[in-house]
Amino acid sequence: MQTTSESPQLSSTPFEVRDGVLHCEDVPATELVRRWGTPLYVYALNEIRKRYRALEEALAPVPHLIAYAVKANGNLAILRTMQEMGAGADIVSHGEMHRARLAGIPADRIVFSGVGKTVHEIGAALKEGIYAFNVESEGELHAISDVATAMGTTANVALRVNPDVHASGTHEYMRTGHATAKFGIDINRARDIYRKAARMQGIRVRGVDTHIGSQILDVKPFQTALERLLTLVDDLRSDGMEPEFVDLGGGIGIPYGEDESGIDLRSFADAVVPAIRETGLRLVVEPGRFLVGPAGLLLTRVLYTKQGGGKDFVIADAGMNDLMRPSHYAGYHEIVPVEPQGREPLEVDVVGPICETGDFLARARRLESTKAGELLAVKTVGAYGFAMSSVYNQRPRAAEVVVDGGEATLARRRETLDDLVAAESEVELLDG
Ligand code: LLP
Repeated sequence: MQTTSESPQLSSTPFEVRDGVLHCEDVPATELVRRWGTPLYVYALNEIRKRYRALEEALAPVPHLIAYAVKANGNLAILRTMQEMGAGADIVSHGEMHRARLAGIPADRIVFSGVGKTVHEIGAALKEGIYAFNVESEGELHAISDVATAMGTTANVALRVNPDVHASGTHEYMRTGHATAKFGIDINRARDIYRKAARMQGIRVRGVDTHIGSQILDVKPFQTALERLLTLVDDLRSDGMEPEFVDLGGGIGIPYGEDESGIDLRSFADAVVPAIRETGLRLVVEPGRFLVGPAGLLLTRVLYTKQGGGKDFVIADAGMNDLMRPSHYAGYHEIVPVEPQGREPLEVDVVGPICETGDFLARARRLESTKAGELLAVKTVGAYGFAMSSVYNQRPRAAEVVVDGGEATLARRRETLDDLVAAESEVELLDG
């Protein structure tokens, strides 16, 4: 493993206990809960800005575009922060494009990824004038050509190639760069398809693209994928094409556990920047988790504690519908008391109110013993937290708050019972 801890400039945290209370930047978590209740997602904007700047600095020696992966956290306040920093967006749906554009992210900084773009979505993106489509199949290439031709316009494309690299250490569901994954175009067929693309009506070859997986903690797979992509770039150049960018996708891993290491940005830059510089290409990256993961906290109240079958359970008011990662990927999230009392730690399962045994936030976790009514904070939930939440068991989705220094602002109100049924207005109900 080529990782050390995260880069030194990233070592500070926005979540510290001051005067006995966990703070988010300068705001006590208890104050946030008093105003907006639980479960509550909280995002520290200065942490996001710090992480963005660190990546920006690491990539500074080459022309580059940081296209934030909207899927990690599409809240408009987060997207506004990205826009202010100068970020672009990596989108995978019309809905994500809608959000990115509402937040003011310029269309010429948007790349459109995803294996299943519909004709409607392709048309909408062409109308906006996005930077590039990352094309995942020959069929999609034809669809884009047809739509662009019908609209009398030209689509900028890159093929998302599958470089067959194995990013170890990630959960099986987060790996995408091996040959048998559903993603991308087999690298051995890419040159042929590029040749076809170059001759297709309504298509302009603009770059090459890959995305090898998520939560990758080693720079080696990025390096290998890049080498393979740059060999392809050489081939394309001999075939008379002039790609202007190489998109390395997202996937930069972060520490979740207390003693875990994330990817060191300097090693990442050392592995990719010199190779890119030689080619004169623009580097596009699509980070999601790296930028927002560590900036998020989920505040939840303990409803009950109980014992059963020799185990201790802490029953929280946040469940798998609010945070799916523990049950879906066996994801680890550190949990801390909001007002630590210095009590003895106890091994507990922290579970939610959902009627499923798979509904837990942590299992067999040593945690300072807690009492009903107390508050807990689940850490590192800024990415794929709220974004993957649902209303399962008809639980209105949580509120989201952003904190900027000493100021806290509601970024998404808590959903209501009316929100739960709003889309079913066609159904005739009996009065009363
Ligand atoms: N680009 C593409 C084409 C992607 O598919 C993804 C993530 C990204 C960029 C951003 O990857 P990141 O930098 O955030 O690793 N729900 C899972 C993660 C799924 C990632 C899907 N694709 C989780 O909670 O860990």
